[in-house]
Amino acid sequence: MSVKDLLKEHGEPPREVYFDLENSGYVPDEVIEAMLPYFNKIGYGHPSITHKPGWEAFEVVKETKDLVAKTINARGSEEIIITHSGTEANNLAILGYALANRSRKGKILVSAIEHLSVFFPAEKAKDLFGFKVQQIPVDEKGFVDPEIFSTYIDKDVSLISIQMVNHEIGTIQNIKELVRIAKEINPSVVFHTDAADAYGRMRIDVNDLGVDMLTISSHKIHGPRGVGALYVRSGVKIEPILVGQLSSEKYWPGVENVPLIAGFRKAVELAFKDFDKNVEKMRKLRDRLMDGIVNSVPEVLINGPVGDKRVVDNVNVSFLYVEGEAITVEFSLQGIYVSSGSACTSRVLEPSHVLLAIGRKHEEAHGSILFKVCRYHNEEDIDYALENIPVAIKRLRKLSPLTPPHLKGD
Ligand SMILES: Cc1ncc(COP(=O)(O)O)c(C=O)c1O
Repeated sequence: MSVKDLLKEHGEPPREVYFDLENSGYVPDEVIEAMLPYFNKIGYGHPSITHKPGWEAFEVVKETKDLVAKTINARGSEEIIITHSGTEANNLAILGYALANRSRKGKILVSAIEHLSVFFPAEKAKDLFGFKVQQIPVDEKGFVDPEIFSTYIDKDVSLISIQMVNHEIGTIQNIKELVRIAKEINPSVVFHTDAADAYGRMRIDVNDLGVDMLTISSHKIHGPRGVGALYVRSGVKIEPILVGQLSSEKYWPGVENVPLIAGFRKAVELAFKDFDKNVEKMRKLRDRLMDGIVNSVPEVLINGPVGDKRVVDNVNVSFLYVEGEAITVEFSLQGIYVSSGSACTSRVLEPSHVLLAIGRKHEEAHGSILFKVCRYHNEEDIDYALENIPVAIKRLRKLSPLTPPHLKGD
């Protein structure tokens, strides 16, 4: 029986709670309403063309950049590039930098728990231009140790890319300190940070951090998929990695997707409206969910740090003796939607490289489940999940040949 048939046979659950916000999220009505006019009412022109629909389109792009710049304390729209996704922003940061600095070559440093959209462009820069790539290890909670980090920095290091927040285990990296160390040893280093999972969840000030490039993804803040942004500090040299027709965006050949950009602008507005209140709400919901799971399900491991060094929306636990895939299906029958390991890897059933890098064994990584809370959740959603999770895990453990006898009983 297929998963689809199974869900159909099981019928509608009494409630649905979507926690898979890491991989994709729902887009609130306000964001959809902000996009719709740009398909056929206003701004449907090409932003580079000088007529009314073109100017209106240009305004959307410009205002979005201004707004994004403001939220991270960048100088202005000239330091923001709108991209088709967070993936493209990471590719542009790394490959665009490598392309512009190919004669210099040198080393690219990345942490061992970066998103694949950082790893792969770094490897491409090695293959295409001869850069060397080194991975910096992390400790059992996902932190890059500043002392170990300093041993990787020398005059040969050209680019560093270390994420602000890990997308799977929520570790908040001390980027400010890492930038300080790197630039003290080698002032010519360019520092990129992937902030896809930090933006909208914690305050970001590019000047305070000292970073040179920073990645944002729209769907991580309830914006539409397929839009992102890259901050590039004035003076940092990158080259476009896509080429083609001229557009108002020097790094984006082709007509800007103005409706999606208008949606992204609205999502940014909403994320930063009542920012502190929303962050506090997420923190409370995260703790309620994490504490609730730990207190109601025996033999679970929390992946990543606890407390203030964990981003406010992330709960990642390994339910021992059961497979992540089986858990996602079982939870789904109850209307609880989560992902296992990482979406990038779960389809091929490879354990997540992040969990392996923090020292989890394969079987622990396979039983890992990622929940992300957001400002649209409420306590009833969390409590509904907490009522159902222990029952579902108990049922799966009964069926699993890996479960020890003391967990098999009623
Ligand atoms: C940390 C991180 N960086 C980059 C991306 C890629 O963003 P997008 O999905 O917009 O391509 C993701 C997406 O899941 C992510 O988690």
